[in-house]
Amino acid sequence: MSVRLDKVSKVFLDPSRPEGSVTAVDRVDLEVREGEFVTLLGPSGCGKTTTLRIISGFEAPTRGDVFISGERVNDQPPNKRDTSMVFQSYAIFPHMSVEQNVGFGLELKGRPKAEVREETARIMNVMGLTALAKRRPDQLSGGQQQRVALARAVINKPSVLLFDEPLSNLDAKLRDQMRLEIRRIQQSFGITSIYVTHDQIEAMTVSDRIVVMEGGRVMQIGTPFEVYSRPANRFVADFIGRVNFFPVTDASFSEEGLDADYRGVRIRAGSRNGDIREGGAAVVAVRPESLRLEPESGSAARFLRGRIDKAVYLGAVVEYEIDAGLDRPVMAVSHDPVVAGFFRVGDGVSLSFPPAAAHALAPEAVP
Ligand SMILES: Nc1ncnc2c1ncn2[C@@H]1O[C@H](COP(=O)(O)OP(=O)(O)OP(=O)(O)O)[C@@H](O)[C@H]1O
Ligand SMILES: [Mg+2]
Repeated sequence: MSVRLDKVSKVFLDPSRPEGSVTAVDRVDLEVREGEFVTLLGPSGCGKTTTLRIISGFEAPTRGDVFISGERVNDQPPNKRDTSMVFQSYAIFPHMSVEQNVGFGLELKGRPKAEVREETARIMNVMGLTALAKRRPDQLSGGQQQRVALARAVINKPSVLLFDEPLSNLDAKLRDQMRLEIRRIQQSFGITSIYVTHDQIEAMTVSDRIVVMEGGRVMQIGTPFEVYSRPANRFVADFIGRVNFFPVTDASFSEEGLDADYRGVRIRAGSRNGDIREGGAAVVAVRPESLRLEPESGSAARFLRGRIDKAVYLGAVVEYEIDAGLDRPVMAVSHDPVVAGFFRVGDGVSLSFPPAAAHALAPEAVP
């Protein structure tokens, strides 16, 4: 095990609040395995940066313990912990060449010149920076600068790499590229990595596991598949991707999943999470891409009927909003419209979904 947080909390004094303080991190338990890439994901202010700073030692926890490679490090200053941080702003030296920037960490440690040169060349090669070795930062693109920053962090061979939204200053295309690059480099060096972002696509792309946070608390820890397809609660389901919630009653459990009443029709969800009682209420979550639309006329009874309110043609997919007489429009996405055909605004449709794509949750908003 490489990093472990044990009931870590952080309370900041904050005179601007009536209660005089804010709990930025609230009893967080987390284990990051050696070589694993874990992402802290959540909305602004949920405690991601504070958690990362507690791991790096720039912030002391109010309560709880931090372990790195099995050793309790609460009392160790940042420079004694075997971690390296990559920030949003690149933090590379403007007056040094790429080569000098990359090698700086080793020079600082007083390594022999030949070793510094050799190791710098090796890292620059892995990072695709060799051709840029003599350039200064102002002669580099944003993505290239970020790669230099990454090379600088990696050359020290830290046991743990910490990233705080390292790509948020880059344009969308570059961000896509750099994500894959960060993942490739992390895997080739096998460095345990903890990555902070509020971008769910980014989290899905790079992570072995995702920690979804809200209000300083961990809502769920799971693989990208688990947090998307088997969310622990409504907050997670809603924060990651888009989702339709159908409130149901009179739940019953079987091998096949959960059956329950939705407006007089018995519907089935293949999986479930949270505290749902036999005979009680629940919420069935169905992603837009899992809803099947059929022309209304003549089809067998479906669980829901409606009228297309909005149809946005995006080439690969068509996004629909359907007025089904509920308090929110139902969202549906259909793929490959050239083959599947598409509906127009005003068309009547009936909706269905495969039970495997429906996930039942406890009815409370957030536990
Ligand atoms: N030094 C501080 N003093 C007082 N309050 C703080 C301090 N640092 C953070 N906070 C508060 O703690 C909470 C968590 O902040 P944090 O920076 O960890 O959030 P975040 O998830 O990184 O958000 P963002 O996505 O906006 O970067 C916020 O309410 C913030 O205002
Ligand atoms: Mg932050």
